[in-house]
Amino acid sequence: MLSTAKGKGQILLALFFTSTFIPSLLTFSPMPATHKNLVLIGPMGSGKSSIGQALAASLQFSFTDTDSLITTSLQSPITQIFAEHGEPFFRKTESATLASLSPISHSVISTGGGIILLPENRPLLQNLGFVIFLTASDDTLFSRVSRNQNRPLLQTENPRATMAAITAARLPLYSATAHFTLDTTSLSRTRTLSILLDEAQRALALTPPNP
Ligand code: S3P
Repeated sequence: MLSTAKGKGQILLALFFTSTFIPSLLTFSPMPATHKNLVLIGPMGSGKSSIGQALAASLQFSFTDTDSLITTSLQSPITQIFAEHGEPFFRKTESATLASLSPISHSVISTGGGIILLPENRPLLQNLGFVIFLTASDDTLFSRVSRNQNRPLLQTENPRATMAAITAARLPLYSATAHFTLDTTSLSRTRTLSILLDEAQRALALTPPNP
């Protein structure tokens, strides 16, 4: 009897401590840090650069493009870097370029389609900002990339099939890295921008512009 009462007392005491201290711990725990940049990942032709520049202009953020940083620092176009030094060298340079961006904030960062390949890049991307995976159907992607010849990985006999195979193989890596995914196949550019701006405002904890 006594031991039951004692047992109940212990339970009540435990409940008292739980109800008193756990909510106060929750109340005083630090707010999660908000993201400081937007990071765009996705296959070639998914619109990372063009949508990224428009997002940067709307948010009054700077625009950063990892491919442009690489071509500027090596003073060589991407196709030439692949031809002269090979893909592994390009990937190492791409990873070092990504790591060098960690101090920046208030930027929309567009990345090369293969940036998710090296495992060390994926936490770097997630720590850099709110990661948006832009994607589209194979037909849409291919119609965009076939306009120019500056994609070394597509210099094959059947670039359409190569492109589809590369995109499919990378899909799980993009999905695992992204905080948000948008398939733009049936979206106008205006609608794409409006969805992304809404998400960005939430992720970056920005005040929405006055109507
Ligand atoms: C690549 C994509 C390219 C560029 C390089 C390799 C890839 O960037 O980094 O040609 O592996 O998918 P875009 O995605 O901007 O075309």
